[in-house]
Amino acid sequence: MLTEVTATRYITPLREGGSLPGLVEGDDLRAYVMKFTGAGQGRKTLVAEVVCGELARRLGFRVPRLVTLDLDPVLGLGEPDRQVQELLRSSGGANLGMDFLSGALGYDPLAFPVTSEEAGRIVWFDALINNVDRSWRNPNLLVHQGQLWLIDHGATMIWHHNWPSADTSAARPYDASDHALARFAPDVAAAAAELAPRVTEDLLAEVTAEIPDAWLTGEPGFGTPDDLRRAYARPLLARAVSAHERINGLQESK
Ligand SMILES: Nc1ncnc2c1ncn2[C@@H]1O[C@H](COP(=O)(O)OP(=O)(O)O)[C@@H](O)[C@H]1O
Ligand SMILES: [Mg+2]
Repeated sequence: MLTEVTATRYITPLREGGSLPGLVEGDDLRAYVMKFTGAGQGRKTLVAEVVCGELARRLGFRVPRLVTLDLDPVLGLGEPDRQVQELLRSSGGANLGMDFLSGALGYDPLAFPVTSEEAGRIVWFDALINNVDRSWRNPNLLVHQGQLWLIDHGATMIWHHNWPSADTSAARPYDASDHALARFAPDVAAAAAELAPRVTEDLLAEVTAEIPDAWLTGEPGFGTPDDLRRAYARPLLARAVSAHERINGLQESK
């Protein structure tokens, strides 16, 4: 289970992001980037952040620590900005928090080249989770203390928006032509050899156990939160086997 922290102070919106994440302080006095259940696609975005973030961490990628941030909607009452006020008022209960990486810079491929090995691992992982949000326009990679960190896994696993057709959707190829790291000759075959065998049923059970129950209730067609957890694991397990063969748009992928 993710550590539970209570949000005690809303500091400021992080305006670059489309989903209006905020910078908040927790009752442990740490600063967190907070993603709200009341924003955009709501809980599903947060579930995707947890599944992909915790999977990435277990595969050895750098990902900010994730927590649940409990929000009392009264925190919104003093907010001058109407949009922020609405967001806080509609997001009572468990939201997602991640460690704020102080001083981190947005990734710029011209300023920070990566090896074909590291590019391969990240492109392979994005193909696995079907991440459409790691383009050179919007890399969702941060450089912190000289190293690359992965953030923003909200726009992944498109199949979880339509469970009845999830298997068909998850069988589709991944287009990496716009990927932020496509220019670094990603060695996706090496990444697949290293990472695919590590994406096991046990690992995915461990990862999906981290999703708070509150974000898994009421999904049509599913009885218990654990049923839905298994549904999250299934397409990832299937894709891990052949993800690298289904990556399109890379010149040196073979
Ligand atoms: N953990 C973090 N530490 C520091 N800055 C962050 C962190 N997470 C996000 N940011 C900053 O906030 C911006 C928006 O966050 P992101 O997760 O990409 O949200 P969105 O879904 O709105 O795009 C990022 O582009 C980055 O500049
Ligand atoms: Mg983003």
